[in-house]
Amino acid sequence: MEHPARILGIETSCDETAAAVVENGRVIHSNVVASQIEIHAKYGGVFPEVASRQHILTVFPIVDEALKQAHLSLGDVDAIAVTRGPGLPGSLVVGVNMAKGLALGSGKPLIGINHLEGHLYSAWLSQTGEPAVPEPEFPLVALIVSGGHTELILLHNHLTYQRLGGTLDDAAGEAFDKVARLLGLGYPGGPAIQMAAQAGHPLAFKFPRAWLEGTWDFSFSGLKTAVLREVRSLEEIGKSIPVEDMAASFQAAVVEVLVVKTVEAAKAHGAKGIIVAGGVSANAELRKAVGMRTLLPVHIPPLYLCTDNAAMIAGAGYWRFTNGQRDGLDFDALPTWPLSEV
Ligand code: KG4
Ligand code: ZN
Repeated sequence: MEHPARILGIETSCDETAAAVVENGRVIHSNVVASQIEIHAKYGGVFPEVASRQHILTVFPIVDEALKQAHLSLGDVDAIAVTRGPGLPGSLVVGVNMAKGLALGSGKPLIGINHLEGHLYSAWLSQTGEPAVPEPEFPLVALIVSGGHTELILLHNHLTYQRLGGTLDDAAGEAFDKVARLLGLGYPGGPAIQMAAQAGHPLAFKFPRAWLEGTWDFSFSGLKTAVLREVRSLEEIGKSIPVEDMAASFQAAVVEVLVVKTVEAAKAHGAKGIIVAGGVSANAELRKAVGMRTLLPVHIPPLYLCTDNAAMIAGAGYWRFTNGQRDGLDFDALPTWPLSEV
């Protein structure tokens, strides 16, 4: 049997410093994530300079730990994959420089990865020792929903993408974060809204759904404004804010639009499966709703692979590696880098 390809992945695009080792794009040998959530919570969002400094402090020990947990040394891996973009410039550059240093020192190939491609390839991963997840079959329609992105993508094959649409304003995760702040819930907003919504009624408020018929685009700014207007008018008449009902009604509006449009896109493009990935795919209502609206196989990664991690970067790195991609030590981070141009 051929020697398996083991890829070391490094991810520092936002506020998670992460490293992982993945075999053949499928099996996770280690997956170490240092989250900065507690540090940024007091600012109510990611503070770029603080994120960058924190990455510098943690990236070396995190990579070391990922290799240790995989019982490997750098000499045992076949390539080093690192998030090249999109993301915060000062954060990306820390991972990119770390990867370049390791590649230079070890002579291992270096591969720059698009963060969104990483989110897609999280759907192929499972933990070593666990049964492999069913392999997604092409063509696939993928919804990537995170703090920075809401993208509907058609995957014709491995590494072959067509962008169908995306948000015209706020990303879905951004809407969760902003509405959470408005309702006095914590950061990050997604989990906080999900928790508050459990005690609320999704039909309590009739918030708008932007269908943008005839396109595969999304818009969440009108919904956010509708929540704001409702909060203000209740405050004006001195009424307390029914936070749980508002959270549940807001969440229902976001989930409904995301799911209906994704399922319609899959039908329209003859997809054989649906991938939902990115931080917002951790949302319990979203996970439930997709499966209820389609008979197609739905691939949603386990929660620890929904939010940013390096296993997904190493996973995508495998397909790039076997496709022959090798990057020089002179490549730059790309803070804005659309997946369709990859
Ligand atoms: O993919 P990710 O970790 O980072 C980016 O690439 O942006 O996504 C983070 C986003 C945040 O906006 C967070 O509020 C959202 O994912 N999120 C959720 C949930 N967990 C995280 N949104 C809704 N429900 C959740 N359970
Ligand atoms: Zn992400």
